[in-house]
Amino acid sequence: MSWPAETIARANDIIARYPEKRSAVMPLLYIAMREEGRLTDEGMRHVAELTGLTPAQVQSVASFYVMYKTESQGKYLVSVCSSISCFLLGADEVLHAVEEAAGIPAGEADDEIGVEHAECIGACGGAPACLVNYELVEGVTPAKAKEMIEWLRNAKPEVINADELQTLFGGRRSFDWAIKEDNGAIGPYPAFPPFGTAAHNTPALEPGRLAPSGSRPATSEGGAS
Ligand code: FES
Repeated sequence: MSWPAETIARANDIIARYPEKRSAVMPLLYIAMREEGRLTDEGMRHVAELTGLTPAQVQSVASFYVMYKTESQGKYLVSVCSSISCFLLGADEVLHAVEEAAGIPAGEADDEIGVEHAECIGACGGAPACLVNYELVEGVTPAKAKEMIEWLRNAKPEVINADELQTLFGGRRSFDWAIKEDNGAIGPYPAFPPFGTAAHNTPALEPGRLAPSGSRPATSEGGAS
């Protein structure tokens, strides 16, 4: 599948932000993922052509980071942390509740919902914690996890936002985030449109649009540190 001219223009706009075009490999991988809903060999070849890297180099980057998905994850990807703090505070029960409510075992997805284990997501003080489309919710109980899945299935929200998740389904938090993000927890770059989230960030993909000043630095196209 070749990319439409608009997508190539977006990619070139992002490449122009870097001193070397190969440095744009990670954001371009998100664009490739967004284009087809998952990362395909062809998408990675486009990234290689645009960045001057070899397809093997692009694949080595893509395969290193778990957020680059080669399989469709549905519209809502629910990632349940199973690392030590969350494990000790009931992550297994939360995961089972998610699997049961979604009718999907961890590692699989239907058109709407994907379920996965996640390693520590940096919210140990608010364990057990999980992410929906990489938006955080802390202090989750099995009962609240079930409610959350039912909400995703029934309400089908267009945009997932951490504050809303926390209000509806969260419990004890690790701390109040020092940096308030009016537009959600994700940085200024196009975040996770393949997974149906962060629509308010999508305009950053438009050619010529720069990140707003004072925004959190992003570790990649898709996430803030
Ligand atoms: S162990 Fe779950 S957030 Fe750190």
